[in-house]
Amino acid sequence: MNELIEKDLQYVWHPFSQKEDDDLMLVADHAKGSKVYTTDGRELIDIVSSWWVNMHGHSHPYIAQKIYEQALQMEQVIFAAFTHKPAVELSERIVKLTPDGLDRVFFSDNGSTAVEVALKMAIQLRKIQGYKQVQVLALHNSYHGDTFGAMAVGERGIFTAYHQDMLFDVYYLTVPEDEEGWLAFEAACKANKGGVFIYEPLVQGAGGMLMYSPATLQKMQQICRNNDILLIADEVMTGFGRTGKMFASEYSPISPDFMCLSKGLTGGAMPMSLTLCSNDTYELFKASKDRVFYHGHSYTANPLACAAALASLDLFEMENTMQKIAQIAEWHRVFAKRLTSSAKVKNIRRQGIILAFDIISEEETGYLNSLRRKVLEFFPNNGVLLRPLGNTLYLLPPYSLTEEEHGLVCDVILRFLCTL
Ligand SMILES: Cc1ncc(COP(=O)(O)O)c(C=O)c1O
Repeated sequence: MNELIEKDLQYVWHPFSQKEDDDLMLVADHAKGSKVYTTDGRELIDIVSSWWVNMHGHSHPYIAQKIYEQALQMEQVIFAAFTHKPAVELSERIVKLTPDGLDRVFFSDNGSTAVEVALKMAIQLRKIQGYKQVQVLALHNSYHGDTFGAMAVGERGIFTAYHQDMLFDVYYLTVPEDEEGWLAFEAACKANKGGVFIYEPLVQGAGGMLMYSPATLQKMQQICRNNDILLIADEVMTGFGRTGKMFASEYSPISPDFMCLSKGLTGGAMPMSLTLCSNDTYELFKASKDRVFYHGHSYTANPLACAAALASLDLFEMENTMQKIAQIAEWHRVFAKRLTSSAKVKNIRRQGIILAFDIISEEETGYLNSLRRKVLEFFPNNGVLLRPLGNTLYLLPPYSLTEEEHGLVCDVILRFLCTL
């Protein structure tokens, strides 16, 4: 066995791992463009953007240069009673890019903490406004992260089983698909007036790349608005072009009250996240000493991460990224059509650069489906880094992906289906 893997298995604890996955371990040596290169000589097309973070391709020289320059200028500074140019510049650009009414930026480190911040802000806002109790509402099949608050608002199941009794009570709604569903949704909102609704707009990622339409998003938001329910859009995965627009929330004219961003924020180069809210919310908190928002992390607004995020936003303009996104979406459309002739797949769905489908299986569709293991064995042996969600396969590529690379991935998928 590779010496590094041996040491890794001795000292390291990997996320979402179990013993039977140990033999799948690869050593990533370097990464460039859409590819990750391993020490045993593999060239893998990273079709899942390394857990949905990479945007413009790996080791992008422009982002690397900006991080380097910032590291020589100032690598980190306390963000209480201090500010710095990269943080202010990033906040201004993000506020201008995001939907109306999102005017203030709060920094943290990852998607889960962006969600924690949004939940804490929304609940505190309600208390400041005089509400005695605040009911949080979330969608079935949602995933918002792994810290306690984020776990509480995600779908309860294997991910949360051991901590279930420690999680606060959440009212779960189902994405409505018919008249009956809408009646149930509306009734639940009426019964929980004044609450807080958190949702992944258009695509529920880790829950299985489940998708719903912009019309459904708008109608759910409208019903919440009618019932005085605050909206938290978790755009940790959908942000920065994944759904075909810069933010999935742009598909609806209703702006959320809070928005969570992370993953692609820094182009996938540095960990950072943002929670946005309105100026009105900010002013209410600032209006009195006993309303301080007691939340902050050591690395809040880390200048290196801000520099990476600014560079990533530059690249959206310099490299015509939205055009690349439209192109990838078109390649997906063509491949999705080809897939429909396969008797092995069902529920082919796509939104922007995300294409997902379920492999037909006698077992239940879900994370624990045993096809997962087959996928994890087959794809790295055939030049593709693809991590399934059980028997759900999906493509969520970096925008550096070429047509040739897309074609290679599609061929490997078709070959995989032939093995079943
Ligand atoms: C929608 C959504 N929210 C939050 C998170 C949590 O992000 P992180 O893993 O950076 O904590 C994820 C991660 O996949 C996500 O998809």
